[in-house]
Amino acid sequence: MEVIICDNYENMSKLAAGIIRQQLLIKPNSVLGLATGSTPIGTYKELVRLHKEEGLDFSQVVTFNLDEYLGLPPSHPQSYRYFMDQNLFKHINIPPGNIHVPYGHAESVMEFCAWYEAQIVAAGGIDIQLLGIGGDGHIAFNEPGSSLGSRTRLKTLTEQTIKDNARFFSNADEVPRFAITMGVGTILEARRIILLASGRSKAAIVAEAIEGPITSQVTASALQMHRDVVVILDADAGAKLKRADYYRWVYEQKKRLVPQMIGHA
Ligand code: F6R
Repeated sequence: MEVIICDNYENMSKLAAGIIRQQLLIKPNSVLGLATGSTPIGTYKELVRLHKEEGLDFSQVVTFNLDEYLGLPPSHPQSYRYFMDQNLFKHINIPPGNIHVPYGHAESVMEFCAWYEAQIVAAGGIDIQLLGIGGDGHIAFNEPGSSLGSRTRLKTLTEQTIKDNARFFSNADEVPRFAITMGVGTILEARRIILLASGRSKAAIVAEAIEGPITSQVTASALQMHRDVVVILDADAGAKLKRADYYRWVYEQKKRLVPQMIGHA
């Protein structure tokens, strides 16, 4: 696992977008796994800038989003599909047919989840998966206790997640209680993973996930088992890491001697 502590949110976002840019230059038909939430907004902004100002091409890119609230149609302003359209898809040249976001209104959720997994496999698997981390250590909506081998399925959100996400709704009662989410096992099959975290409120859980034991109580800790994860943090989110000095030192060495290896564990 590579851990990079950036000075601020802007640099964190630029670094993440730069790694995705590199991937698209090497493989223009890459399959990207995408996340919603506040954290990746800066990364998406930078990808949009790279597209508009530097011609970064998304015409062959295929995307799979991690999750969607159950019961919210794509047109709902709080749906994750709507979020992705506003923050990324409508600003780049990705063909609409290449976009996959779990469908919150699926008639049969179980059938939909199996179909979603099959679509990922049919696309050749995910090349880079972008992740955020929840206050309770979740990745996607894999709440504490989720099996580390779990697949795409329906999950009940924890009270903490409902409270955390209430800021996007007029009140906590409006936050859906269920979501369709990729499983931890699904995520771990991505060839590369970028985990982003920003802000003081994430510092303790980031330290637990990266430096604590691997446990289903903090599903982000399962990333320790993946062979190619880069964790990109701003200084606040990295504030509680015991080995912060070592991570900074490694990054400085890589920048100086093997810059092409930045973004690779
Ligand atoms: C969103 C997702 C979630 C978020 C996490 C952090 O698609 O999968 O796991 O990444 O809840 O959310 P923010 O970035 O809003 O703190």
